[in-house]
Amino acid sequence: MTYCLPREFPRMTDIHAHTHTDTHTHPHRLSHPGQAASQTSSSYSLSDLENGNLEKGNLGMAALQSPAPRMKAKAKFLRKDGRAKADKHRSASTSRLRTICTSFRYLYNLTPEQVSNYLASYVIYSLDWADEGQMIQALGPDYVEKVGSCLRSYYGVLNHLCALGNVEKMYIPPLIDIHVSVLDNQLLYEESVARDINLKPGDKALDIGCGRGRVAAHMATFSGAKLTGVNIDPNQIAQARTYNEERRLENTFVEADFNNLPLPFADDTFDACYEIQALSLCKDLPALFSELHRVLKPGAKFSILDWVSLPDYDPTNPHHEELMRRVKPLIGAVGTPTPETLATALMEVGFAVRKSDNASVGGLQAPLIAKEDGYFRTARALIKGLVGVKVLPAHLRTLMDRLCLDGEAFVEMDTQRLVSTSYRIIAEKKGQ
Ligand SMILES: C[S@@+](CC[C@H](N)C(=O)[O-])C[C@H]1O[C@@H](n2cnc3c(N)ncnc32)[C@H](O)[C@@H]1O
Repeated sequence: MTYCLPREFPRMTDIHAHTHTDTHTHPHRLSHPGQAASQTSSSYSLSDLENGNLEKGNLGMAALQSPAPRMKAKAKFLRKDGRAKADKHRSASTSRLRTICTSFRYLYNLTPEQVSNYLASYVIYSLDWADEGQMIQALGPDYVEKVGSCLRSYYGVLNHLCALGNVEKMYIPPLIDIHVSVLDNQLLYEESVARDINLKPGDKALDIGCGRGRVAAHMATFSGAKLTGVNIDPNQIAQARTYNEERRLENTFVEADFNNLPLPFADDTFDACYEIQALSLCKDLPALFSELHRVLKPGAKFSILDWVSLPDYDPTNPHHEELMRRVKPLIGAVGTPTPETLATALMEVGFAVRKSDNASVGGLQAPLIAKEDGYFRTARALIKGLVGVKVLPAHLRTLMDRLCLDGEAFVEMDTQRLVSTSYRIIAEKKGQ
C-alpha cells in the first residue's frame, strides 16, 4: 500500500492545474442527491466531514437544515476562493486515533497462525480465475473454497493494516480533487455514487464487498437510504455492525460469499447497488451480475468502481507481465477484467450500461497513491525501529514489509495507463 513515484511521473503542478480546472465543474461540495438541482444552496464543504460531523451522523440532518446555518457552515469550511480547505482530515481526529489504536492492538495480538495464514493467503494473487488449470494445480479441485478461505485470512488482517493509514475503507479512490486527502477523495467519490444510482431517503441499497461498513454508513448518512452490506469476512462484518449501531444507522450486514450463490435476498428487493474494488475476487462475473439483476428492482442502478487492465497492457510484453505479477498481490487482485469484459457480462444478463469511464481526473490515481506513500513508509520505519529494540513483536515488521512491497510497480502501471483501480461503470436494470 505504500508507493513511490518514478522520475517520469507528471509534476504535481501539472496535475494541480488540470484538477483545478476540473473543480469548477466538480465543486468540492457535498449535496444531498435529492437536491442536485439546487447544489449551491444545499452544498457543504468536505471539512464538514473532516471535522467529525459525519462521524456523529449529523451530515444528513445538516443537509436538511435551513439555509442560514448551512451558509454559516459553508463559510467556516471554505477558503476565500470558494474551494474546500485541504486541512487536517480525520486521521488526526479522536475517532481516527481510536480506530488506529484498536487496529494496532489487534495486529499486536495476532497469533503466529494468523500471521502465517495471512502470508500464505497471498498465493491466490499469483493465480487468475481465467486459468482454471493453474488454480486446480495450486489449490486443488475445491479451489473456490480455498480462495474463500484465503480471502478470510487475508482480509481479517489487511483491514486492520489499512486502518493504520487513511485507507480504512480499503480502496484508493479515484482522483477527484488533488487538494484534499485520500479520505476526502473517497467521500467525494461515494457522494458521486449516491447521485449516479439515485439514492433517496428510504431506499434500500446493496453494498457488495462492504469492508468495515464505513462506506455504507456514509451513504446512509448522506442520502437517507438503508444499506445492506455483504462480506465474506466475519471480522469486517462484526466491525461494520458495531460502527453502524454506534451511529444509530439502520444498516444491516450479512456474511456471505459472492462466489457461493445465490445471495440471501428475495427478487426485486433493492432500489440500487454499488460495489467498490471487489470484483476481481469474483470467480464468475456473469453469475454474480445475474444474481444482482435478480435482487434489484426494475430501473435500479448498479455502480461499479474496479480494477481493470487497459488496452495498452500487453500480456506478451515481458516487462508488462512482470509489473502485473508484482501489482496483483499489492492490490489484492485475483482476476484481471477489462472494461469490455465487465460491460459484456452486465449486458449478457440484462443490464444496460449507462456510463463507462475512468473516474479519476485525467485517468490517473498515482497522486493519491503517493499521498499514502509517505504515511505507510513512515509507519513501517517506525515499526521496524521499535521491533529492532524489541519494543514490538517481530511479526509487525513482517506484515509491514509485505504490505509495502512493490508500490512503485503500481505507480508505473497507473502512469502508463496499463491498469487502473478507478474504472467506473454505471449499469441499469431495464424495465422502468
Ligand atoms: C479491496 S476491498 C474493497 C473495499 C471495500 N468495498 C470497502 O468498503 O472497504 C474488497 C472487499 O470485498 C470483500 N470480499 C472479498 N471477496 C469476497 C467474496 N467472495 N464475497 C464477499 N465479499 C468479498 C473483502 O472482504 C473486502 O471487504
